[in-house]
Amino acid sequence: MTEPSATLILFGATGDLAHRMLFPSLYNLLADNLLPDDFLIVASGRTEMDDDHFRDSVDASLHKYLPEDRYDPDLAARLRALIVYAAVEAGNIDQFRHLATRAEGRRSRGISVYLSTPPSLFAPTAQGLADAGLIAPTTRIAMEKPIGKDLASSRLVNDGIGALFAEDQIFRVDHYLGKETVQNLLALRFGNVMFEPLWNAAAIDHVQITVGETVGLEGRVSYYDGVGALRDMVQNHMLQILSIIAMEPPARFDPTAVRDEKVKALRSLRPMSAETVKTHSVRGQYTPGAVGGQIVTGYADELGKASDTETFVALKAHIDNWRWQGVPFYLRTGKRMPARQSEILIQFKPVRHSIFGRNGQHSSGGSGLEPNTLIIRLQPEEYIRLLIMSKRPGLERQIRLEEVTLDVSLTAAFAGQRRRIAYERLLLDLLEGDATLFVRRDEVEAQWAWIDSIIDGWQEAHMKPAAYASGNWGPSSAIALIERDGASWHD
Ligand code: BG6
Repeated sequence: MTEPSATLILFGATGDLAHRMLFPSLYNLLADNLLPDDFLIVASGRTEMDDDHFRDSVDASLHKYLPEDRYDPDLAARLRALIVYAAVEAGNIDQFRHLATRAEGRRSRGISVYLSTPPSLFAPTAQGLADAGLIAPTTRIAMEKPIGKDLASSRLVNDGIGALFAEDQIFRVDHYLGKETVQNLLALRFGNVMFEPLWNAAAIDHVQITVGETVGLEGRVSYYDGVGALRDMVQNHMLQILSIIAMEPPARFDPTAVRDEKVKALRSLRPMSAETVKTHSVRGQYTPGAVGGQIVTGYADELGKASDTETFVALKAHIDNWRWQGVPFYLRTGKRMPARQSEILIQFKPVRHSIFGRNGQHSSGGSGLEPNTLIIRLQPEEYIRLLIMSKRPGLERQIRLEEVTLDVSLTAAFAGQRRRIAYERLLLDLLEGDATLFVRRDEVEAQWAWIDSIIDGWQEAHMKPAAYASGNWGPSSAIALIERDGASWHD
């Protein structure tokens, strides 16, 4: 690890992400004394304004987005004092030079740049930084998603940044990797002896990964339409989760070892075709309905026109390697689902031989023997549950089994610990130069290669989204996708 950067240049500083997540995260890092001494934040947006005007807007956002008991006026004033503002339009070299003067004399102490802008501005912004003399071997650059909309365009984005920065200076953000619960998957798998021997096709029947959201478009029409759930959620967050579940154990917790293993898993995803998408994928789009007791409109009404964009996707994926041969990974994500719920379910196989009578596979006939299930809830609650078989108390001659739950609430186990914003971890790692929880170029490209195979399949097969009423777990075909295999979604 190198010296922490003493300066953060934040592009897109007037945007929603910066105000909702990044400034509250910087505030929290400051509260914990985790920012380097003499830290400077050069905030940049397109709108002209003076430092105080911008600082006021940050203060208002801290009020709005921090939990009430967390806002401390003295600390907010200390954060305020670290911020300067410089308006910049891509391509305006004078403005970039002016921005550089705001970070005058600080290059030798390291600069981290954060691009929270549309991707079309990544390369021009990097060029502006180069022209203003702000790029040195110690400069790091973080980029928000989306990195392209397919493999070809992601290569262009990566080439544009790669022309000015070496790969180890580039930090691609996937905010799911900043979530404690996602990092905890690594702890669960590699910090315990009991899971790894069973973590393979010999013991596991299938894996489910669900990321359900209750929200709809949230005013993101211009971004979301034409992008859809597959590109917005599966390409990045869900495939990152999948790669952590599926990867081989890395030799060390360092950026190269961890990402080498993740990319191997991603490259083992079996591509889809026009034939396989028909049975291995479902696209859906929400129509009017009710979510959490509230009546909501449909996607097309929110958009103001008909659209072929999917707001729900379910997939049956295969990982063609030794460990996972024959184990389906079912993925589903959607907007306007009945609950905000992200979880991973590991369905183990039945015991090889039941001494208790009929070995109930999916139905609980006979003794009631059910295969074990591990449920890892990522949000909103954080828990790990293992469903195991136990004897039902009683004097019957025939032992009756019943499923009971070993329940570990992570929230309770770590009560008293503040739940951090995912971006706190990521900003700190960026400043300190630790790329383990950022996405390497080859990972992004492996993710896109698989996603492209699905999008191409959809186009070739003319697969349009099926309607689902808001407040449901997608169209009925999503249920059929998994039930055909004798399993069912865990709701
Ligand atoms: C973003 C997507 O990356 O992740 C959004 O663009 C989605 O559409 C969000 O709502 C979900 O993040 P979280 O942390 O709320 O699960």
